[in-house]
Amino acid sequence: LAFKERESLYIALSFARDFFVKNLQTAEGKSIGLSYFKERGFTPTVIEKFDLGYALDGWDHLLEAGKKAGFSEDILLKAGLILQKESDPNRKYDRFRGRVTFTIHNISGKPIGFGARILTKDKNQPKYINSPETPVYHKSDVLYGMYQAKKAIRDQENCYLVEGYTDVVSMHLSGIENVVASSGTSLTEGQIKLIKRFADQVTVLYDGDPAGIKASLRGIDLLLEGGLNVKAVVFPEGEDPDSYSRKVGTEAFQSYLKEHSKNFIGFKIELYQDEIASDPIKKANLIKEVVQSISKIPDPILRSVFAKEAAQLLEIGEEILHTELNKSLIKKQ
Ligand code: GTP
Ligand code: MN
Ligand code: MN
Ligand code: MN
Ligand code: MN
Repeated sequence: LAFKERESLYIALSFARDFFVKNLQTAEGKSIGLSYFKERGFTPTVIEKFDLGYALDGWDHLLEAGKKAGFSEDILLKAGLILQKESDPNRKYDRFRGRVTFTIHNISGKPIGFGARILTKDKNQPKYINSPETPVYHKSDVLYGMYQAKKAIRDQENCYLVEGYTDVVSMHLSGIENVVASSGTSLTEGQIKLIKRFADQVTVLYDGDPAGIKASLRGIDLLLEGGLNVKAVVFPEGEDPDSYSRKVGTEAFQSYLKEHSKNFIGFKIELYQDEIASDPIKKANLIKEVVQSISKIPDPILRSVFAKEAAQLLEIGEEILHTELNKSLIKKQ
């Protein structure tokens, strides 16, 4: 029974994917959804590659089409496609309405959920609405774009990690296909294991805003703990991979990534370079932070290699750094 239910959910989600994709070619879809994607520079090729679509404005377009196609309300509910009214649970309505849709695939390419972006500047509504957890969508084990990226991640031996759906799509437009998104939530162990199936190196490309920087720092430590080789890039204030690639163009974006990819030590130094120049206490804090990160690395030989590099880059004695490192290793036990 559990197997049959999962199969019905996959079929319902594929139906919804097809419905949203087709909606993009209706009069409403063209004038609202397709023109939005075009404005963002998304080409028909990339729209097709990512199964981008449009959820019609209205309460029950998907619900009615789904019922007509033979899906029960119960399956549509379990798939996360519709909701029931709190005041009247007999009344159901579409979860995604008047938004462009990003299909979330599992690694074999089956649709398992959707992210849907608002098209107005209405600040009272969330920018994105996402599918809930369902029997086929375990968010902590999924990275957006992995299906489209996995081959390139293997070939390039590196996985770019971004925050958002649009960053993934834009990077494909820039010819970079080894990219996945954590979709604005903090990275999990399951997601790190997923990346490790395809590569040993991750390059973190989070947004150049305080939230993005904070998430990078946390993500870097988790990735180090997972035994991955970690690089990161700092973007100019207010830019994310999507906005920055559109601003400077494909070639300049690619060289920016090459020139600004630093290991986690270099990333932290770059982040704090202005402050540490004038404030020795800030420099001491930076050293402690770097030591903290090194202590997460499971392999003792690699730890020692990075300790040596950190001592050089931070211009402090290697013995002091090793002493600090040993202290934090003991604390962890
Ligand atoms: P654009 O504004 O379309 O360029 O999107 P973005 O991806 O740059 O958005 P942002 O950097 O604000 O957020 C990164 C990711 O976090 C998004 O791609 C979503 O996956 C997620 N996210 C953003 N806003 C919301 C929200 O209001 N609700 C939820 N649940 N997730 C969100
Ligand atoms: Mn779960
Ligand atoms: Mn952001
Ligand atoms: Mn962003
Ligand atoms: Mn953005």
